[in-house]
Amino acid sequence: MKKQVLDKTFVPFLGKAEISNAIARMAEKINADYDGKKPLFIAILNGSFMFASDLFKKIEIPAEISFIKLASYKGTKSTGSVITAIGLETDVFERDVIIVEDIVDTGKTLSEFLPQLIHQQPRSLKVCALLHKKEATRFPIVIDYMGFEIPNLFVVGYGLDYNGFGRNIDEIMQIAE
Ligand code: IMP
Repeated sequence: MKKQVLDKTFVPFLGKAEISNAIARMAEKINADYDGKKPLFIAILNGSFMFASDLFKKIEIPAEISFIKLASYKGTKSTGSVITAIGLETDVFERDVIIVEDIVDTGKTLSEFLPQLIHQQPRSLKVCALLHKKEATRFPIVIDYMGFEIPNLFVVGYGLDYNGFGRNIDEIMQIAE
């Protein structure tokens, strides 16, 4: 079924069962890889709230989760826009950190944020992303746990928005061409 979000029309792309199967597969791998460890999940708001919630429910090892927002502000002329993390209250020093992102598009966000985290010396740092638009890559990011490689088309639903709307759709929909 088509759905209208503001002025754009979206068509079904990834259904509830597909999403939950992918998340189960990712969680199973994380549970095995981090056996005996106590990882700290850092979910990047707003888009990842549904994904992080469903993923975290399937994590069976002792784990913490913290939610951050990345704010972009204009830096100097030479630095362009600068990303800062808001709300990271848990110390990442010597922690096994797993970043939880809804979608990696150009890779710009993580390519700026990951070095800032590395600066705080986590023991390990991995990236878990539900979606990856491989063709859109401008800043290559290693995604350690990935749900789906998707075409370079705009998607909404399952936490992802179009101008703030569409996050409440319980599946992932693609813009109608
Ligand atoms: P990147 O910095 O280009 O990798 O973009 C990452 C961010 O852009 C994501 O966390 C999303 O908030 C947003 N984004 C990229 N593509 C989409 C999309 O198709 N739908 C909704 N949000 C998107």
